[in-house]
Amino acid sequence: MFENMSEQQARKKILKEVAEYAEKFHSSKPYEKGDKINYSGRIYDRKEMTLLVDSALKFWLTSGEYTDKFEKNLAEYLGVKYCSVVNSGSSANLLAFMALTSPLLNERAVKRGDEIITVAASFPTTVSPIIQYGAVPVFVDVTIPQYNIDVEILEKAISKKTKAIMLAHTLGNPFNIKAVKNICKKYNLWLIEDNCDALGSSYTLDGVKKYTGTFGDIGTSSFYPPHHITMGEGGAVYTDNALLHKIVRSLRDWGRDCVCPSGVDNFCKHRFDGQYGELPKGYDHKYVYSHFGYNLKATDLQCAIGCAQLEKLSEFTERRKENFAKLYKLLEGAQDKLILPERCENSDPSWFGFLITCKEGVSRDKIVSHLENNNIQTRMLFAGNLIKHPCFDVIRSDKSAYRICGNLENTDFIMKNSFWIGVYPGMTDEKLAEMANRIIEAVG
Ligand SMILES: Cc1ncc(COP(=O)(O)O)c(C=O)c1O
Repeated sequence: MFENMSEQQARKKILKEVAEYAEKFHSSKPYEKGDKINYSGRIYDRKEMTLLVDSALKFWLTSGEYTDKFEKNLAEYLGVKYCSVVNSGSSANLLAFMALTSPLLNERAVKRGDEIITVAASFPTTVSPIIQYGAVPVFVDVTIPQYNIDVEILEKAISKKTKAIMLAHTLGNPFNIKAVKNICKKYNLWLIEDNCDALGSSYTLDGVKKYTGTFGDIGTSSFYPPHHITMGEGGAVYTDNALLHKIVRSLRDWGRDCVCPSGVDNFCKHRFDGQYGELPKGYDHKYVYSHFGYNLKATDLQCAIGCAQLEKLSEFTERRKENFAKLYKLLEGAQDKLILPERCENSDPSWFGFLITCKEGVSRDKIVSHLENNNIQTRMLFAGNLIKHPCFDVIRSDKSAYRICGNLENTDFIMKNSFWIGVYPGMTDEKLAEMANRIIEAVG
């Protein structure tokens, strides 16, 4: 098959066939009434498949050329200095939070018992790292229909123990970055932006428009298939802060002190001449650990897909915005029954989904089952109220494990009355119309 061919020629031949295979067997089929309408999904073509196979043929497997390229390109896109790819958005959140506990941050390091302000209307792994470490999440209610932290009550949540604010931009809708940043500045708090559902959303602060995830000290992304771009499983942590970046890399890569890339030895030329901790002088720097770390790296195969996806991100962003606007128009007439989503002031969201809250007397469950019975996928706002979940059973009555600022009235309302449907780039006008018609049908 590869007779008289160089490796490069053989690879070219394989990749050409992969491209043809992708076109023939992976092209999306036109929508027909009654087909399943997913809330989101992978959008890809021959480029993703050929880069993936290219990476497989090179068989480097761990982080390598595609990882470097992806980290560089994502950092450039976002306009940040440093980016680290990881194996999921949850890992990105874990790293972002754990970075704040590093002794290298001296008196600003988060200690056990310190408080972190967040919301309960969230995805669990925005909050889990806080609890796992032994810090104390302080839950603040959210507003409807923005579904982000209520900045009117945020300041009331501050105590002497508050060290950070860690929040997601809910379903792509930026939280009030101006108000949150002002509080961070006033009380010297870290800000982690869980940007997992908001890649491509932007916000204008003091006349400067920037992408979400770049306003706080650390931003995180998820590349799980429904997200704005995918690499199957994957995530990223980004920052402009060189020290935080160094800590993130150390924690991601086993806690090591050394910064040698995968497969490289003695990058800094001081592998055997340092003095660290109580180790003998000259102990191999490759095996010196400055943190109790993890291994959360992704593979080059994942990043190869990510490189192709990044090229499509701007187009995806536009499609999400357009689909949101179209769906809004189709449902505008039902506002006596339904509360439609509203973007945060000064923001330009790349919506992850279209979140709807049923007004008093309208049954969310009835609408959701009508949609699901008609092959339309629906989603809840993740945990609804995270505190109500079984994982809280063991700490629910422990007053030192978490704190609620005031009440979580809106969070509970969302848990009972909200649901969302998709606006991803795979939507067509027909699918949007079908979703809207079925909703209107269900509310009568
Ligand atoms: C807001 C938010 N944060 C974090 C995550 C976790 O990302 P992953 O599924 O890649 O672990 C998700 C997942 O969808 C999410 O929606």
